[in-house]
Amino acid sequence: MSSTIDPLDTHIRDAVASRYSVIGQDPAAEVVIPVGRSWAERLGYPASLIESVPVSALASFTGIGAPALIADLAPGDQVLDLGCGAGLDTVIIARWVAPHGHVHAVDLAPGMIAAARESVRAAGVHNVTVWQAFAEHLPLPDASIDVAVVNGLFNLAPDKIAVASELGRVIRPAGRLLGAEIVITDDRLPQSFDPESWFR
Ligand SMILES: C[S@@+](CC[C@H](N)C(=O)[O-])C[C@H]1O[C@@H](n2cnc3c(N)ncnc32)[C@H](O)[C@@H]1O
Repeated sequence: MSSTIDPLDTHIRDAVASRYSVIGQDPAAEVVIPVGRSWAERLGYPASLIESVPVSALASFTGIGAPALIADLAPGDQVLDLGCGAGLDTVIIARWVAPHGHVHAVDLAPGMIAAARESVRAAGVHNVTVWQAFAEHLPLPDASIDVAVVNGLFNLAPDKIAVASELGRVIRPAGRLLGAEIVITDDRLPQSFDPESWFR
């Protein structure tokens, strides 16, 4: 992992924190990024799960897919939900791995962290720790995670190597990583950083 942080990386992470904080607190204001219940339905979350989670978790949902649904989680698993957003996957997973399993939900955006904490409270789950932290510097010990779920974080993180390195550090040997991600195949990317283009 790099020991110094590139100023552009800091700029991008600040833009991500700002944009996703607004989505966490006022999802109806977002007009570019797909958000909310109808998006979760389109991505394949079944009605039985959608009906079982708090409004806060659904309203600010911004996942890219539904990797938690194919994670084959079991009671007792120690799980990382990296880039947890408002906590839809967090709450679903917490119920699956209870009572002895635990979910570490991590996000950098204060507005999303507040929404995730509200989702955890409203869901009545007690086996979750919500961390406001960078994916590039996880507040978790080495080899402490059985399964990591990453639903749409990599495309937003400027230093993807650092994120991958941290995942490699915290997932135990023979542990698993399940993710959903956006892949850009268009080679007409802007030459200079434009905060708005980062979210398209
Ligand atoms: C596309 S959203 C998906 C949120 C959530 N997984 C869901 O399914 O609703 C990605 C999330 O990752 C968070 N994020 C992006 N870059 C991050 C980073 N470097 N460290 C921690 N969180 C980050 C954002 O704040 C945002 O909440």
